[in-house]
Amino acid sequence: MLEVKEQLHGDNKTQKDSDSVKVHVPGDKSITQRVLILAALASGESRLRGLLHGGDVEATAQALRLLGVALPRIPSDGSELCITGVGSDGLKSPVQNLDLGNSGTGARLLLGVLAGSQIEATLVGDVSLQSRPMRRICSPLRTMGARLEHLCEEGCIPIRVDRSGPLRSIDWMSPVPSAQVKSAILLAGLVGRTEVVVTEAQQSRDHTERLFAEIGAPISIRNIPSGHQVELNNPPDIFAPLDFSVPGDVSSAAFVIAFAALGGAGVSVTIDNVSLNRTRTGFLDVFSRMGIDLTIEETGSGNTCEPRGLITASPSELHDTVVDAEEVPAVIDELPIIAVLGACSEGRTSIRGAGELRLKESDRIHSLVYNLQTLGVEVVEHEDGLEIEGTTRPLKGRIRAFGDHRIAMAFGVLARLKGTHIEIDDPTLSDISFPGFWGLLDKLTQTA
Ligand code: S3P
Repeated sequence: MLEVKEQLHGDNKTQKDSDSVKVHVPGDKSITQRVLILAALASGESRLRGLLHGGDVEATAQALRLLGVALPRIPSDGSELCITGVGSDGLKSPVQNLDLGNSGTGARLLLGVLAGSQIEATLVGDVSLQSRPMRRICSPLRTMGARLEHLCEEGCIPIRVDRSGPLRSIDWMSPVPSAQVKSAILLAGLVGRTEVVVTEAQQSRDHTERLFAEIGAPISIRNIPSGHQVELNNPPDIFAPLDFSVPGDVSSAAFVIAFAALGGAGVSVTIDNVSLNRTRTGFLDVFSRMGIDLTIEETGSGNTCEPRGLITASPSELHDTVVDAEEVPAVIDELPIIAVLGACSEGRTSIRGAGELRLKESDRIHSLVYNLQTLGVEVVEHEDGLEIEGTTRPLKGRIRAFGDHRIAMAFGVLARLKGTHIEIDDPTLSDISFPGFWGLLDKLTQTA
């Protein structure tokens, strides 16, 4: 069997035999953000490997530096980074604003941390972040006693956090299933040393809970009639540093899987060491319903709390599917690529109950509808979703990414397929979450 090994950008590698290619994707963005924050707050030295080196993560890292954490440069090749935590009382009021750029996760999780700390800080962000809803975070944090002031528009960034007194415990029913809301409350509880309970109608991604267990914070989770509940009880004064390898980001893998399924690589593509956390892999069920030939092999958790493994996708004939409200929290970040795949599938793909999509880095329902129509695809827009009529016509046009990395990459998958003539207005947006995205697709295209 012929084997070719090649080094691409950073951590992305391809390894080829005659009928399949093996690739890596960069580290998981959600997990990277969380391990950086927890390592900064731990007592002792954390050792982190496989971190994503992307725009959102850099914004969070820079904010932590301004808060007094000696956080070295994040390696771009996934090699080990050692961080000495300042302890949960150790953050300092920054002399500058904390600019979270485009990162909703960074902003919302840090709001939780700041609410629990006895410091003053102002959080700012780019135009997209300024338009994203923060009331869902500020309401529970204020209920806990945090002092938060919206400096421009109520419910939006910029937000000033003032020295809050001791926080009160909270039992919060989140109006939307959101890992960012849940995590902000859990982090406020951890840093402010107060008990918190968060309930959501459907379970959102559970990385914070898993990492809390890893650092020795007593967390319990349970299903109750109104949904899924997480409880932080008796938060410790100090908590343990992390020794952690971040798996590849399964949301980034979704683009590679879609490209392979559409025949972009001409052969099967295997993604190695990728997160297989069940709160993130809902899209694999959707892809499989659409007819994508997938093999998933769990390789264990590599001595950490996050499952990981291999996903193999082969060129497939695609057909339509229905995604409804029940399924949305588990596939929220992959809905753009599901919609784009719908355009290349037989039949009419329907995504409903996904109003949250309008509140992401762009209004993703509008971004998808606008761009699919630009390409000549028949689409119906709903307030909470869209319906896409699959087509076999050649796709052609210029995509407006609306400053949104996932919109750029979802259409980027189509742009790199033979027979399409698609240009993306700002291809560099992929660096937010998937540095090396274009290089990886180009490499896969050459194997076809
Ligand atoms: C994230 C949670 C999700 C997701 C986002 C990352 C996280 O947002 O869309 O990309 O890391 O907690 P919501 O919490 O708003 O659903």
